[in-house]
Amino acid sequence: HQVLNQVHNHTSVGTHVGASQVQAAPDHHSDEKENERRRLLHVVQAERQEQAERSVLISCHATNSEKKFLKHLSKYGDIKKHFFYQSFGLYAVVEYSSQESVASLLEHAAIPTVNHESMVPFKSRLLSLRSLASVGSADQQSGQHCQPQTSPPISELIQRLSREESIDQQITALTEAYQLTEENIRLRFLVCSLLKDIAAAYFPECTIRPFGSSVNGFGKLGCDLDMFLDLDGISGRNVKMPRSGLSLEYHMKSANSERAVTQSILSVIGECVDKFGPGCVGVQKILNARCPLVRFAHQPSGFQCDLTANNRVAMKSTELLYLYGELDPRVRSLVFGVRCWAQAHSVTSRIPGAWITNFSLTVMVLFFLQRRSPPIIPTLDHLRDLAGPADKSVIEDNDCTFVSDFSKIHIHRNTAALGQLLCEFFDFYASFAFNKMSINIRKGKEQNKPEVVPLHIQNPFETSLNISKNVNSTQLERFVALCRESVWILQQSATNSPSGESGATPWGLAALLQPLQVPGNKGRKRRSREPASERIKSLLESLKIKNQS
Ligand code: GTP
Ligand code: MG
Repeated sequence: HQVLNQVHNHTSVGTHVGASQVQAAPDHHSDEKENERRRLLHVVQAERQEQAERSVLISCHATNSEKKFLKHLSKYGDIKKHFFYQSFGLYAVVEYSSQESVASLLEHAAIPTVNHESMVPFKSRLLSLRSLASVGSADQQSGQHCQPQTSPPISELIQRLSREESIDQQITALTEAYQLTEENIRLRFLVCSLLKDIAAAYFPECTIRPFGSSVNGFGKLGCDLDMFLDLDGISGRNVKMPRSGLSLEYHMKSANSERAVTQSILSVIGECVDKFGPGCVGVQKILNARCPLVRFAHQPSGFQCDLTANNRVAMKSTELLYLYGELDPRVRSLVFGVRCWAQAHSVTSRIPGAWITNFSLTVMVLFFLQRRSPPIIPTLDHLRDLAGPADKSVIEDNDCTFVSDFSKIHIHRNTAALGQLLCEFFDFYASFAFNKMSINIRKGKEQNKPEVVPLHIQNPFETSLNISKNVNSTQLERFVALCRESVWILQQSATNSPSGESGATPWGLAALLQPLQVPGNKGRKRRSREPASERIKSLLESLKIKNQS
């Protein structure tokens, strides 16, 4: 489901949800300003949610001039921000200063009258701005102001990266090209808010929160929108009962298990989304999955959506990944580099199967960073030890506690550059003892594998589970072979300096994104057998020399 989204930007362009900028070099982490910048995910989320509730999504005719568009919409109140983008037609996100303005706009909107079709009378904040015959012929809105909102195609990215002067710069440029934009994040929260309006018909206190890569800092433009229907406010969890006297409680229907409750809620909401949800198409209820979900496409935004419920552990892993990404800018950049590399070689796939997932790959990067000397990020056990009473979180007997106050986290000084880290990542996994060891970010150290599977990555919170149990040995072997080949390519790049000309031949990270030859091809087999440690030594030396110059 690929939709070309374009954005006509009228807002200040930030970067990802945590608003941290990509930097090539590490800095000190004791700085107060730095801690203020790294705000808690739930604080950032609450702000975005509130913003989304004051926003509307408008399908507009290209013939409306922007001036007239704004003049018309300002009738209902003060517009704080707005931007245009292309999906199936031109759309605008309009954020008002107050919710009353949205109410006033909705009050004045008309019910469409279409002769040959019948309408489901469900009103939402997705509207169409009709252009009357007398309006908008003089100064027409043209598409030329629009900028692409999806990530650039890989061929264009390769060209762009080839013009950079160092691998560090290439990784930073890739992150900047791929990360979610301010507008894209706003649109994601707005879609959650629109869905909340549907779910609120049954559950007025509910919230729909995005999780996964939409908010963990590792999202790429075009990634799916993972949503979580949060009914915790009405779950009865953490409710304190009075010790004496009378008290009233709701009479509620009971079910056999929490899973059965989740399934029936998602089934009904899924039905509503399918039958009433404006712009929601291709609704599939996948209720028998380990984590039941409703999958659909939201056409006006172009997002592929996964709606889950009662998925609090996934929320916790999102928070954890966000925290790691905020601790050091190299974490996000390295994850972007590795994810893009994996996608280019079909190590990961959108289709479920025996492939390594982006989530597993991210955990592999985190583990690798914990194994640096000194470590670039702390272990999960260390983050748990730093936690205060307010951080305590136990979900279905799983300890999900970890510190939320960034200022308590002491980071070791490790100044390794990104290019060096990327190369070390490939070398680390090219020679990792996958047959015996399990990857464990809780301990920050490989552990003996508890079961016979090709790839074992311990689930950080549900520690008896393996997040990569779907991966088969063919996929793992391909991953390892590609890691070996990638070390070799980077070594070539380190000895052949980039030409710096436009249209330069792909080198460094750009060369890694091109089709690679992995075992099976006779020509390359011999050098793959060379000891990786020897090759990497000389490569790292040359990278260090480059960084010093
Ligand atoms: P992309 O969508 O591929 O960009 O990355 P993502 O991180 O959003 O992954 P995905 O949409 O597959 O999953 C969303 C979130 O669900 C992840 O970020 C994790 O928090 C969680 N998740 C995904 N797969 C697993 C898994 O195998 N085990 C556990 N415990 N959580 C998972
Ligand atoms: Mg996702």
